[in-house]
Amino acid sequence: MDVVVLVSGRGSNLRAICAAIDAGICDANVVGVVSDRRNAAALEFAKRRGIPTKTVSLRKGDDRDAWNESLADEVATLNPELVVLAGFMRVLGAPLLERFPGRIINVHPALLPSFAGHNGPQDALDGGVRISGCTVHIVDAGVDTGPILAQAAVPVLADDTADTLHARIQVQEHQLLPRVIHQIALGAITLDPLTVSTPVADPDRSLCVPDA
Ligand code: GRF
Repeated sequence: MDVVVLVSGRGSNLRAICAAIDAGICDANVVGVVSDRRNAAALEFAKRRGIPTKTVSLRKGDDRDAWNESLADEVATLNPELVVLAGFMRVLGAPLLERFPGRIINVHPALLPSFAGHNGPQDALDGGVRISGCTVHIVDAGVDTGPILAQAAVPVLADDTADTLHARIQVQEHQLLPRVIHQIALGAITLDPLTVSTPVADPDRSLCVPDA
């Protein structure tokens, strides 16, 4: 399955996807990496790996509609079967959503529908929850609101900061996201935006709280 990955930052999830592909446990091919930030470290990793990269920058004052059209054009040129948001820090507009209906997924560092938005780990701490985690979901027009495909849980520890909690969540993200991509490639998860089917027979990932 040909996949385009959208990134804004470090790209640890992109690296995890590529590692899973190399290990033969994710039946996908990253055909392109697209960023809104020219200096995203994820782009350097992609270039070193020989993956085509593109940057569609959005600066203050830029026309957001035009940016959304350009982003959709660049992604469409790569002709992916699936678009994966892996740390892409922008809300997608209609052009990309309409060109890939139900074919865009996102990984979020909290157990949605709680703590959507840019500060999932800090919001979970502020909310006083004892368990947090990550969610992989289909992207719709809202902010972290699309149908949930898979989640993994981690404990929130008494001395956690947003950074330590996020680091613990990312360990789970790096397993869950490639796994979901693999299941989509296999057809075990069907991405019809109206009738999302998720496998129930996945006991080891359905809700896992690792030992603290
Ligand atoms: C991840 O924690 C993801 O959940 C969130 O942004 C972060 C990206 O991390 N959407 P990285 O760039 O993949 O390291």
